[in-house]
Amino acid sequence: MRSAIVPTLLALVASTSAATEHPFQVPTEPAARAPSRIAIIGAGAGGSSAAFWLAKAKERHGLNIEVDIYEKDSFIGGRSTTVHPYGDSSFEAIELGASIFVDINKNMWRASDEFNLTRYYLGDDMSSLGLWDGKDFLFTTGSWRGTLGGWVDNIKALWRYGYYAPTNTDKLVKNITDNYVNIYGPDTPIWPNMSDVVNAFDWGTAVSQLGSEYFLSRGISERFTYELIDAATRVNYAQPVETLHGLATLCSLATGGAAGIERGNWRVFENFVQLSGAKLLLNTTVSAIDRESSAKFTVTSDRGTASYSSVILAAPFHTASISLPSGLADLIPQQPYMTLHVTLLSTTAPAPNPAYFGLAPGAHVPGNIYSTPGVARKLGDTLEFNSISFLTKLRKEGAEKGTAYVGESGKEEWIVKVFSPKAVSDEWLADLFMGQVGWVLRKEFQPYPALKPSPSFPPVRLDRGLFYVNAFEPLLSTMETETIAARNVVDLLLHEEFDSGICYPAKVNETHARASDPSFVYGWDC
Ligand SMILES: Cc1cc2nc3c(=O)[nH]c(=O)nc-3n(C[C@H](O)[C@H](O)[C@H](O)COP(=O)(O)OP(=O)(O)OC[C@H]3O[C@@H](n4cnc5c(N)ncnc54)[C@H](O)[C@@H]3O)c2cc1C
Ligand SMILES: *[C@@H]1O[C@H](CO)[C@@H](O)[C@H](O)[C@H]1NC(C)=O
Ligand SMILES: *[C@@H]1O[C@H](CO)[C@@H](O)[C@H](O)[C@H]1NC(C)=O
Ligand SMILES: *[C@@H]1O[C@H](CO)[C@@H](O)[C@H](O)[C@H]1NC(C)=O
Ligand SMILES: *[C@@H]1O[C@H](CO)[C@@H](O)[C@H](O)[C@H]1NC(C)=O
Ligand SMILES: *[C@@H]1O[C@H](CO)[C@@H](O)[C@H](O)[C@H]1NC(C)=O
Repeated sequence: MRSAIVPTLLALVASTSAATEHPFQVPTEPAARAPSRIAIIGAGAGGSSAAFWLAKAKERHGLNIEVDIYEKDSFIGGRSTTVHPYGDSSFEAIELGASIFVDINKNMWRASDEFNLTRYYLGDDMSSLGLWDGKDFLFTTGSWRGTLGGWVDNIKALWRYGYYAPTNTDKLVKNITDNYVNIYGPDTPIWPNMSDVVNAFDWGTAVSQLGSEYFLSRGISERFTYELIDAATRVNYAQPVETLHGLATLCSLATGGAAGIERGNWRVFENFVQLSGAKLLLNTTVSAIDRESSAKFTVTSDRGTASYSSVILAAPFHTASISLPSGLADLIPQQPYMTLHVTLLSTTAPAPNPAYFGLAPGAHVPGNIYSTPGVARKLGDTLEFNSISFLTKLRKEGAEKGTAYVGESGKEEWIVKVFSPKAVSDEWLADLFMGQVGWVLRKEFQPYPALKPSPSFPPVRLDRGLFYVNAFEPLLSTMETETIAARNVVDLLLHEEFDSGICYPAKVNETHARASDPSFVYGWDC
């Protein structure tokens, strides 16, 4: 099938590119052959960004590829999705799943800039904060700026935790984030397996230690670790600081510049899909991936069977109900995911019921309550909720900032989010919000893996042409890291099938690509 010019081309490639790994897979003249077809399974952060990275390479290097995205749901975004209060789309959308990214999350940041999406900042209007141990408030503040730095300025925090606990924690977090941003640099590695990326960033120690071990052994006090850090890991990963690994714990504390996208983070992923030109198949569940030949796979969905040269799996394997070619499923270690119940509701109560917290009527109750058993914890302590957050007032879409909606009750309503290990009952909600509950929506998620120390990582490349984005999740599970995992998978795929990459063989812009240039983002600027 190869045309006569191939040997010449190969000779050329061999003589000009010492770095070439797969010279025999150089494409012939694009017009001379059918496009390579690539399937992506899942249209969440991982799958949508995979399509976007493929499109970047296609645009830069003129690759002859066609991409199909399979998505079982009727929407783009996966675990990043919004709902409208009262199911009424004239009300502002509220995040039901992933809500926050931070300023060092350069793909989300850059994407929102380039796609003209508006960010809102969580530090702007945080109301008061309290840590609740199931019996008492360990600690409350008048206002919270949403960053660890804010704690240092708070006189009550100084008293409770000592000056050095927050500052030393800040240093540990800064050390890890300063190194992390190299993942966006021109010299970022491409990793065929997860051990490679763990080693490249020196994350081995943090990943092999428990969060509690990591901080206690570095001089952070028990009180700070088991109260404040624990509350952060519970709200971020639904896991206490003594069960999840140090890296995920550090990630829970790296809150600088916390932001979200107005009208929904999923709009980033929608833009990824639209700009990629990929064909999106919504409401389409994939049931099997099979080998058709040494160079082809078939993907079977409820629309039938189609043939592809490469397949990118961008959904957690153990919940995706997809059968793989023989032997491959065994390569993916069992991966338990957490269970989290998210309850969104509206209430005319401006704060939770003081009586629920054993306080006198009229006593101040914070608008953001995080639960932690504190220092006097027992293994397997369960609290009724992980967090209660008064998010925003019910507002009409497009209403001026600060303008709340006033309904028939004549009162403004708050939108509140509750995270809990079990579903909360109507009676519990009525007690907590003094009978003033309007709209309620409950959703059970498997939000993120159990982030155990020394996780057994699945292969990133399952086989020639078959890649697994969510192999990254046992390391860290966030929207941003899924876009990074997808970027890596796309680079691997392009090297394997086209002797190309998202950037390679394009020359990196030397002026712009200095590692010291903070605006450079690998994949966008190469
Ligand atoms: C309540 C909650 C809060 C969170 N908070 C944050 C946060 O604040 N910040 C943050 O960064 N992250 C947060 N996360 C984690 C974040 O949502 C995930 O890490 C990230 O969105 C995962 O993206 P993904 O594309 O890998 O997977 P998913 O978003 O799960 O996407 C996978 C997609 O594949 C589809 N799919 C599955 N099986 C099939 C099949 N057989 N055929 C076709 N399609 C299939 C699914 O429908 C889904 O759309 C939170 C998660 C939850 C649930
Ligand atoms: C997907 O299914 C939903 C109903 O479950 C329907 O409303 C929607 O129009 C469908 N979308 C597509 C693209 O088929
Ligand atoms: C964003 O806005 C700029 C300037 O108005 C425009 O050039 C660009 O095309 C817009 N991008 C998208 C994705 O809409
Ligand atoms: C800082 O991070 C590096 C890895 O980048 C690690 O080797 C070093 O031990 C860390 N320092 C501290 C004080 O944790
Ligand atoms: C990971 O890949 C590297 C090559 O980059 C290889 O040296 C190493 O053995 C691999 N490790 C595992 C666990 O497969
Ligand atoms: C390289 O980057 C610099 C700085 O962003 C920019 O001014 C210049 O135009 C870029 N050069 C090319 C060839 O893209």
